[in-house]
Amino acid sequence: EAISLPHQPLLGRRALVTSGPTREAIDPVRYISNHSSGRQGHAIAAALARLGADVTLVSGPVSQLDPAGVRVVKVESADQMLSACQAALPVDVAICAAAVADWKLARLAGSKLKKSPGAPPPSLELVPNPDILATLSAAGNSRPRLVVGFAAETEEVVANAVAKRARKGCDWILANDVSPASGTFGGENNTIHLVTADGVEDWPTQSKDAVAARLAARIAQHLTAI
Ligand code: CTP
Ligand code: CA
Repeated sequence: EAISLPHQPLLGRRALVTSGPTREAIDPVRYISNHSSGRQGHAIAAALARLGADVTLVSGPVSQLDPAGVRVVKVESADQMLSACQAALPVDVAICAAAVADWKLARLAGSKLKKSPGAPPPSLELVPNPDILATLSAAGNSRPRLVVGFAAETEEVVANAVAKRARKGCDWILANDVSPASGTFGGENNTIHLVTADGVEDWPTQSKDAVAARLAARIAQHLTAI
């Protein structure tokens, strides 16, 4: 009698996924961050693991459960996220789904900022964070064979994603239509356009779990074809 084994086309492949927001400290008790839930990135890590991949998930602070069968590295700042990603190399594929804060504080206050009567509020000087997707894309000998980024756009979704793909030097961009008209922002579903060197694939609006499963299958197809 035949037994059916799970189809694991990514067995022996290594994957790196970033997920969630980053937190940029202002002082020991305050930070700048964003509302990323980590739902899409965590779903991608889980989907890759189900296909047999050895997955490292580098995540900012989220309330998601750790996905089954995935190595989870928890970080706060973008600098920490970049270091954790570099420590996870080499990998066959990297997927950057994190909402990395674009800026951090130029100077971190060593003690809690205090009000003093009559004094103006502090002004916070910001400097750019490292771009993790661009850094992995330019990693020379240790560049993953396939580097995938996201682009959340509200207008000119595909054109902006095509430009972003070139700017970052990655292989694929999942352009996510977050315009109010798409009705998906912050919700359960995503409307994805997959931008590659070969053109654009329009995916139907579907759940973040379905996006993750489709992406994982597409990655398996790509890595086994080359
Ligand atoms: N990204 C990253 N590191 C950063 C900023 C972004 O790895 N410091 C990654 C994200 O994980 C995502 C992609 O780059 O995969 C695009 O992020 P996005 O915020 O859309 O692009 P930015 O270049 O930051 O441009 P902007 O926010 O101005 O649209
Ligand atoms: Ca950004």
